[in-house]
Amino acid sequence: MKTIKGMKFETLINEIDIATRVKEMVKKIAEDSKGKEIFVIGILKGSFVFLSDLLRLFYVHNIHPSLDFITVESYGSGKISSGKLKMLRDITTDIENKWVLIVDDILDTGRTLAFAKEYFQKKNPAYIKTCVFLDKPERRVNEFKADYVGFEIPDKFVVGYGMDYDNLFRELPYVAVILDEEK
Ligand code: IMP
Ligand code: MG
Repeated sequence: MKTIKGMKFETLINEIDIATRVKEMVKKIAEDSKGKEIFVIGILKGSFVFLSDLLRLFYVHNIHPSLDFITVESYGSGKISSGKLKMLRDITTDIENKWVLIVDDILDTGRTLAFAKEYFQKKNPAYIKTCVFLDKPERRVNEFKADYVGFEIPDKFVVGYGMDYDNLFRELPYVAVILDEEK
């Protein structure tokens, strides 16, 4: 257990297990995309650490993709999310006939990736694949399934490896669960 900024963290997935799994994922992606023109779309902000690991391993497999980022935001007022999403930052390049890989940190309700996939499907890519580091299947509100999943985890809020709590703790090199704060 580790305490940072007065909060207690317990490691759920350590750095070694992350590195091993990400390597396996890239091997599979390399096989599936062999000979294709690859375009990677990262969903900000949470995907950036996972994506940077993926990218450097792509190099090892001789994959040289184009890369861009999007920001997806839910809109509507009030604290309870309406579940409606909009593209706040879009890509600026054409993806027609490309092998597109959309990358996010975690698949939770499934709304973000379902929205992003549908959005980019309309731009006529040759293939559209989705890749997440973590998946919380219990939380799904739709039927969404990602093509590449690092780890399935239980319905717990996690931070680290790019994922945040209130925009903090993205820098942890492992995935951790925040233990209940003692009041
Ligand atoms: P979805 O649309 O509910 O699938 O939302 C996925 C997004 O919610 C991810 O990109 C994360 O930014 C965020 N998210 C969901 N669960 C967690 C978590 O446990 N920790 C940090 N962020 C999370
Ligand atoms: Mg996110």
